[in-house]
Amino acid sequence: MSDQKVQNKDKILERLPTVSWARSPRPFVKWAGGKGQLLQQLEQHFPRSFSTFYEPFLGGGAVFFRLVESRPRFNAVLSDVNAGLINAYDVVKKRAQELIKKLVLHEAKYKLAPKKYYYQVRDEEPSDNVGRAARLIFLNRTCYNGLYRVNKAGKFNVPFGRYKNPTICDHENLLTVSQCCSGQTRSFLRLTTRKPRKKLGRKTSSILTRLISR
Ligand SMILES: C[S@@+](CC[C@H](N)C(=O)[O-])C[C@H]1O[C@@H](n2cnc3c(N)ncnc32)[C@H](O)[C@@H]1O
Repeated sequence: MSDQKVQNKDKILERLPTVSWARSPRPFVKWAGGKGQLLQQLEQHFPRSFSTFYEPFLGGGAVFFRLVESRPRFNAVLSDVNAGLINAYDVVKKRAQELIKKLVLHEAKYKLAPKKYYYQVRDEEPSDNVGRAARLIFLNRTCYNGLYRVNKAGKFNVPFGRYKNPTICDHENLLTVSQCCSGQTRSFLRLTTRKPRKKLGRKTSSILTRLISR
């Protein structure tokens, strides 16, 4: 992509309005085993109010986002063994604009040569957190069935997914999630990422992401 086109994309992004909670935040990744389809059945078992929500298996966060939508402020401890996924949540919260710029570029380059670009990104390993988060989201939106699978060496190895026009950068939702996690609107919160406590043990260790009500 030419520098001129890249600059134009940046200009478009600068003009985007900031979202003022026009939509409820939704999962920004598709995740196998997500509870999105079961929310109606699950909802009746959720307490009406609580002070802290502990989610040990965050994934796409369908349950968490439903609670954000339907409950007043609460604390949440969100956890997942997948450190790349937790990094993506962290980047969405703290650096959404930078992330969106990278995703817009991914989207534009993907459209020029979807399969070739998919494998190019799959082979890359960005050294910065925003780049890693953008890569995870891009691969999630364009890989086969939105699967997450790595080989023994930890390399993502899901093949290309055949989508006609996948949404790679849902900037509105990303900004909404970011805002709700930053305490800029009605819900949240402050976020810190923690190493697992020793008593969790290595195997079950998760990186904890703690959202603490302001
Ligand atoms: C099906 S997803 C969870 C769905 C989610 N709770 C929802 O609301 O849609 C399962 C997640 O559990 C995580 N997981 C699996 N084993 C784990 C472990 N031992 N510790 C922490 N997370 C784990 C996986 O990485 C995956 O992201």
